[in-house]
Amino acid sequence: MGDVTQLLDQGERLDPQELRALQLDRLRATLRHAYENVPFHRDAFDRAGVRPEDCRTLDDLARFPFTSKADLRETYPFGMFAVPRERIRRFHASSGTTGRPTIVGYTDRDLSLWADMVARSLRAAGARPGDVVHVAYGYGLFTGGLGVHYGAERLGCTVVPASGGMTARQVQLIQDLQPRIIMVTPSYMLTLLDEFERQGVDPRSTSLEVGVFGAEPWTQEMRREIEERCGIDAVDIYGLSEVIGPGVAQECVETKDGLHIWEDHFYPEIVDPVTGEVLPDGEEGELVFTSLTKEAMPVIRYRTRDLTRLLPGTARVFRRMEKVTGRSDDMVIVRGVNLFPTQVEEIVLRTPGVAPHFQLRLTREGRMDALTVRAEARPDADAAAREAAAHSIAVAVKEGIGVSAGVEIVEPGTLERSVGKIKRIVDLRS
Ligand code: DLL
Repeated sequence: MGDVTQLLDQGERLDPQELRALQLDRLRATLRHAYENVPFHRDAFDRAGVRPEDCRTLDDLARFPFTSKADLRETYPFGMFAVPRERIRRFHASSGTTGRPTIVGYTDRDLSLWADMVARSLRAAGARPGDVVHVAYGYGLFTGGLGVHYGAERLGCTVVPASGGMTARQVQLIQDLQPRIIMVTPSYMLTLLDEFERQGVDPRSTSLEVGVFGAEPWTQEMRREIEERCGIDAVDIYGLSEVIGPGVAQECVETKDGLHIWEDHFYPEIVDPVTGEVLPDGEEGELVFTSLTKEAMPVIRYRTRDLTRLLPGTARVFRRMEKVTGRSDDMVIVRGVNLFPTQVEEIVLRTPGVAPHFQLRLTREGRMDALTVRAEARPDADAAAREAAAHSIAVAVKEGIGVSAGVEIVEPGTLERSVGKIKRIVDLRS
């Protein structure tokens, strides 16, 4: 792939000391910008008894108040904006599952920063100017489609704005337009792979070389499944609307060892999800972000609810975050045991006889919660293979996670397929 260091941008070439100095400068400017222009932040700082100038070191950030999703809902739609509405060039909304969505806004400069960060991410993923990039993230209020679209153009790629859905046509487009890169949720990638096979096309025979997968948690087992079935490198891209969208952190294709956070623009902290206390690098907790250069909607210590840990940089100077285990909201508690869908994904994907499609059903049996793992049989799995799969999943869930679960192996092709972010949990407990 040649010497990647030749291609790095200015921010990626900083040494650690320069990076910390730049972060502190930008952090102080952001705190001032938020305090002076967003009444919500001014009130919150005043209540906490801190002023922007109290931030003298990066560690001082811990003295400033958090911002939560609820705060964004309460100030809906424009309350978090730090610039007049006329300077906002675009709105997006976060994929809220319940209640009011969260509106986010971008100035011209924010949109340009976003394109730069996605271009940087794509380059880290192995994309190069001139590549054809098939974008199957949804276009619209969701930040996935348009966010990566402008970043791919910024890098100098040719974009196929396929968006989500019309799966049969996507397979045709991939064969006809010969993309080298595909950007899509990992769950929709599985839907596409099934469609390739349904049409009698070997996905390993396509022009695709790299998949840039994100917007939902996915495991190393899923990476292996996709890489083997499609003959590509699968790398992880992370982001959230409130911080900017896709392009907050990206896994480098040469190391595939977690995601480098573009921390010259998005400053990460890990906190204890219960106490809010800042945890040292290496410890798992909730990821919190403070934007360092955003104009329209600076975020101050925004609680993502995503669980991960920070690790030192490898392929880049920036710290890495480990693959996200899940959101604290996706954690289910079954008879006192905490469980994330990703833990079940690991088990289902290494079980012979079942396809990588599964669902978690929660029901109430008397006063107890019950969990059923529904997984799809592979077409070639006979009754004995299905029974063996059910048994082995039940044992692995019991031994690995510590909870008893029912396992149902369903007919091939019967579980709902994803066209974007997949919903793993079906909660029938009401
Ligand atoms: O999902 C932005 C995005 C689009 C990222 C395309 C990557 C690719 P939201 O709709 O606001 O934005 O949802 C953000 O999705 O807090 C995580 O819980 C989850 N998420 C995003 N990327 C990953 C990832 C976009 N790589 C929420 N791994 C975040 C795990 C992810 N979870």
